[in-house]
Amino acid sequence: MARLRVAVLISGRGSNLQALIGECARDDAAAEIVLVLSNVPGAAGLERARKAGIETATVGHRRFPGREAFEAAVEERLVAAEAGLVCLAGFMRLLTPGFVERWRDRLINIHPSLLPSYKGLDTHARALADGVRLAGCTVHFVRPDMDWGPIIVQAAVPVLAGDDAGALAARVLEAEHRAYPLALRLIAAGRVSVTGERVAIAGAAAPEGPFLNPDDGAGA
Ligand code: GRF
Repeated sequence: MARLRVAVLISGRGSNLQALIGECARDDAAAEIVLVLSNVPGAAGLERARKAGIETATVGHRRFPGREAFEAAVEERLVAAEAGLVCLAGFMRLLTPGFVERWRDRLINIHPSLLPSYKGLDTHARALADGVRLAGCTVHFVRPDMDWGPIIVQAAVPVLAGDDAGALAARVLEAEHRAYPLALRLIAAGRVSVTGERVAIAGAAAPEGPFLNPDDGAGA
């Protein structure tokens, strides 16, 4: 069966991209990364892609008069690469509703909180300030509203005494590196469907999809 063609959009260090590269390097991988695109010239993630022999592109948003023009240039690259799925991995540009709708259910994001809690930035500092006991991450389909959309995978980690935002971020990031590959694997296997803005995972133990806890292996 043809592998799912995936484009990854980044703005920075690309550690989640690295996790996705690792997933696609598995013998039984049903997905391949055909393009890594950054809106930031020189983003560290671009080097990770090159090392893995993946085509890269830089579309600097500052070169364009507005969001639509920027997105048209991005989209041109996605279409040329024949991407069937777009993964946002630390991509720091808001996308217009038009773009999001055109890629509906083919566009996913990872966010460093257990959504719908802590949308937006500084998630870890805000979680610590609230004294929550659990933090985590969410992989979700993208919808026009920021950091919201049907949830594919969530992974929870404990908040420990003495955590600062950096320590919590590092623990959550480890969970991200398991959750994002799992979500990609499930989608590439054709097991993910969206009905009424809720995700169903065919063959998963829980009808609404996997939940990773810190001691889990790869989950579903
Ligand atoms: C991650 O924490 C991700 O959840 C958020 O941005 C960060 C990107 O990190 N959206 P990296 O570039 O994947 O290392």
